[in-house]
Amino acid sequence: MKNTRLLTIKPLCLIVILFFLLQDVSGRFCNPDALNVCVDITTDSENISFSVEASADVGWVGVGIGDSMVGAYLMIVWPNSDGSVTISQRKATTHDLPNPTNQQADLSLSSSSGIQGNKFVATFTRPLHVQGSTVSASTKNFIYAVSDQKVPESRYDTSTLQQHLYRGYITLGNNTKLMTAHGIIMFLAWAVIAPTAVFIARFGRQKLPKSWFHLHWSMQTFLTIPLVIIAFVLAYIGRNKKFDSGVAHQLFGVIIIIALGIQWSIGIIHHKLFDPKRKYIPWWTKLHWWWGRIVITAALVNIPLGLHRYSSLFSKLPLGLFIAYYVYIAMVYLAFFVSTWRKPNYRGLPTADRH
Ligand code: HEM
Ligand SMILES: *[C@@H]1O[C@H](CO)[C@@H](O)[C@H](O)[C@H]1NC(C)=O
Ligand SMILES: *[C@@H]1O[C@H](CO)[C@@H](O)[C@H](O)[C@H]1NC(C)=O
Repeated sequence: MKNTRLLTIKPLCLIVILFFLLQDVSGRFCNPDALNVCVDITTDSENISFSVEASADVGWVGVGIGDSMVGAYLMIVWPNSDGSVTISQRKATTHDLPNPTNQQADLSLSSSSGIQGNKFVATFTRPLHVQGSTVSASTKNFIYAVSDQKVPESRYDTSTLQQHLYRGYITLGNNTKLMTAHGIIMFLAWAVIAPTAVFIARFGRQKLPKSWFHLHWSMQTFLTIPLVIIAFVLAYIGRNKKFDSGVAHQLFGVIIIIALGIQWSIGIIHHKLFDPKRKYIPWWTKLHWWWGRIVITAALVNIPLGLHRYSSLFSKLPLGLFIAYYVYIAMVYLAFFVSTWRKPNYRGLPTADRH
């Protein structure tokens, strides 16, 4: 069992790493297509602070705490012709012009705000908790909007704003990190560890007559399954509700995880019912072979779907990565088929070894 204990340490280390990955509720977001707008968000024990930058000719910039315009805590800033900056706290009840609230005092605008060179810069802060809006470590969703239309009567925060020219979502905690970890861990579990354990069960029996069974089941139980669960939790935490275009990957992923649990149970059933004097291979054992092969194959197909999703949500992944992945997977299957072809009855019957 020493062996097994060692195997459980790795997932525990990953949980610790995960904890550190989740710490930061800060980040910088830029959109060069939206009048070069950049939003920096930082928090400390009391306040959440924003630093907004955009081209000097911007009309106004809005940032909202929340994941949709309606209901979000909106903060709108704009430069005035005399060089001053106005900040306006608003709330939208519809997708029309949001109205100023009676909570203007929540926000304090830094005196350094204004036009600096060819840039409009505004820095403002708010307590983490204000009426109707609380920022916590789990606050990740922000929205932004930018307009190139100057604000009339701009000294007043009750001004009418022209509709935004650009708008979008800012997701913090940069889930790029979370999703990268999700992808790497899923790859390790499905493309490295699970196939290795399968190879051990199928081709390792002569070289490892005593330990192949223990290795197979403990690798699957203490490595594959915990890693898949950790990677799933990472994806769940980092999931972006606003970009639901790639649902196939998620739906497929959930089905595969359920199927993995079933596979584990079939393995246990096989083990409990194992008859060392068996003359034929019972259906539940064959089910374990085929269900296992299908689940792993489905997971290996789901990985490129995840890579595509990553490409469209974060930064475009190089084609070489996809090619390297397909080449690696092709090698795994080739090794399986070639070994089967060379030793078709490697599994042997009747098997004398207890498993
Ligand atoms: C949950 C993750 C698991 C996966 C993905 C998995 C996958 C597989 C696959 C694909 C095979 C067939 C290998 C071949 O082509 O011959 C296999 C064989 C086997 N597995 Fe698993 N397995 C898992 C868990 C378990 C567990 C928990 C046990 C037992 C407690 C177990 C016991 C066995 C045994 C004894 C064999 C050999 C069956 C025989 O041919 O008599 N497996 N496994
Ligand atoms: C997340 O990180 C990537 C790469 O570091 C960066 O390009 C992107 O703007 C970041 N997004 C946010 C919201 O911080
Ligand atoms: C939070 O902001 C308020 C008002 O600007 C300021 O007085 C206070 O010192 C800030 N707290 C921290 C921890 O920076």
